[in-house]
Amino acid sequence: MISPALPELPDGVTVTDLRDLAVRLATAAGVLVREGRPDRVVVAATKSSDVDPVTVMDRASEDLLREMIAAERPDDAILGEEGDDVAGTSGLTWVLDPIDGTVNYLYGVASWAVSVAVVAGPPEPASWTVLAGCVHSVADGRTWSAGLGEGATRDGVPVRVGTPTSLGSCLVGTGFGYDAARRAHQAQVLTQVLPKIRDIRRLGSAAIDLCLLADGSLDLYYERGLNPWDMAAGAVVASEAGAVVTGLRGGPATHAMTVAGPAELVAQLAEILEAADADGASSPEIG
Ligand code: IPD
Ligand code: CA
Repeated sequence: MISPALPELPDGVTVTDLRDLAVRLATAAGVLVREGRPDRVVVAATKSSDVDPVTVMDRASEDLLREMIAAERPDDAILGEEGDDVAGTSGLTWVLDPIDGTVNYLYGVASWAVSVAVVAGPPEPASWTVLAGCVHSVADGRTWSAGLGEGATRDGVPVRVGTPTSLGSCLVGTGFGYDAARRAHQAQVLTQVLPKIRDIRRLGSAAIDLCLLADGSLDLYYERGLNPWDMAAGAVVASEAGAVVTGLRGGPATHAMTVAGPAELVAQLAEILEAADADGASSPEIG
């Protein structure tokens, strides 16, 4: 994968600095969330549906991230899962998922992460350039990071996508949305995918899924319905590790669909997903 061209950065700013800050932010929030996790986590509110939870620690984690960004990069904008958008003047936007995998966090299942990325351009997946990102898997401490043109690492060691030889041998990560109609559609799509691959994994954190793809622990990944904060950091880690991160029908990765993996296998999976209308091109009402 050839990294996209590096956009002009504000004076004195480097991708390495931004990546270092993303790592510091994600690990600081990770300490807060790990130490603050009560024995019994309770749902503070629900968002898009009754099964889309937010906990007190989602909010505390995002508050800390916002405070640190305001102190270190006051001119940058912020787009976070749990708070209002903050406008900026630098052209850079921090894209924050304070706990990705909130359901796992709630139930004490290990796969959840703090995900921090910084993007140039409009903070939308179809048009942004992700400059740097960090996904910190708090329960086990694994930390993936990447900077545009710098490659990707896990705990400081360079990672690359795997080299599966056929779609039939691929372990594929995916996820399901919180909305019942979307889930029903995703279940139908799965009936078209599952017979053609090795197996499926639904681990519960899109950010970690993309990083597992980056280090060869998954072979492919696809999901409909990702929000910008679910994908920003994981996408730069995956693409800097050699993955194509894309949408269907020649389009970019968006809320409608994100497919990631080695180019040739992504093309084969995309063909199945397109035939199954996995991005809802023929059923946009499902969302
Ligand atoms: C969710 C997780 C999950 C994915 C959902 C996301 P949250 O994020 O990434 O794996 O399947 O689409 O919404 O709600 O835990 O931050
Ligand atoms: Ca998320």
